[in-house]
Amino acid sequence: MSPINNSNSLTDTIAEKMVLQIKNVDLTYQTDKQVVTALKNINLQIKEGSFVCVLGPSGCGKTTLLRILAGFHQATSGEVLLDNKPISPKPDRHRGVVFQQQMLYPWLNIEDNVGFGLKMRKVPMKERREIIDHYLEMVGLSQFKKAKSYELSGGMKQRASIARVLANDPRIVLMDEPFGALDAMTKEQMQDNIRQIWRETHKTIFFITHDVEEALLLGTHIIVLSSRPGRIIKEIHSDLPYKIQEGKSRMYRGDPDFVKKREEIISLISLQH
Ligand SMILES: Nc1ncnc2c1ncn2[C@@H]1O[C@H](COP(=O)(O)OP(=O)(O)OP(=O)(O)O)[C@@H](O)[C@H]1O
Ligand SMILES: [Mg+2]
Repeated sequence: MSPINNSNSLTDTIAEKMVLQIKNVDLTYQTDKQVVTALKNINLQIKEGSFVCVLGPSGCGKTTLLRILAGFHQATSGEVLLDNKPISPKPDRHRGVVFQQQMLYPWLNIEDNVGFGLKMRKVPMKERREIIDHYLEMVGLSQFKKAKSYELSGGMKQRASIARVLANDPRIVLMDEPFGALDAMTKEQMQDNIRQIWRETHKTIFFITHDVEEALLLGTHIIVLSSRPGRIIKEIHSDLPYKIQEGKSRMYRGDPDFVKKREEIISLISLQH
């Protein structure tokens, strides 16, 4: 085989392992009053099993990008491929979304919320029960399966939302500031929980946050966007999330390399304001 053919087949193999590819994506909102370009020329290749954290100033287009990936908006130009196929412009269980404010159905108990998508897909009852129990255990809510959402704390509701998304076995989990409304201690526990889930399930996660430390403690791939129109201005690869042991993230916050990266990202974002 010629060296040229060799390199082509290597490129193909790399492309195959990419679960999500964002190519030259622009998004412009057109309302009655104004035209707003939210995203400009976004290019991103997301490898299977990555934990991608997206940072950027408020209003730079983070949620807009997530909404494109979820299928709620269509890019004005460019394309988004999931497993090498263009994504359908509608919500899909293969692209599960966890929002900042949980969206549990208040009339259903927690197990029925988690099993909702499975029931819609007519997954047999026995299998459904097994899947629900598995993910409720993973998020530490087994004892609350009969509770209604109003009986749970904020953190517990987020755990239930995560279990509901995972029960649908998505190809990618999209999270928009899922821990943004939680107190510091709960947030740290939730970070431990999602890191553990990511390690166990090998899911690909796309996670938006305002919190630079959170991005560094969770992300294998950290993306920083410019102010609007959002463009990628920095990409950082990290193996820290593979190393952190449960309950031990605090000891990394003072690490010189961690502090250096944090300061670098903070100054980059503040330059955008
Ligand atoms: N449906 C919409 N119609 C028109 N403009 C919109 C719409 N949604 C968002 N925008 C505008 O697009 C820009 C990007 O918004 P977006 O919500 O994606 O930002 P963000 O980075 O998620 O901000 P934050 O960090 O505050 O959540 C903003 O200027 C916003 O006003
Ligand atoms: Mg947002």
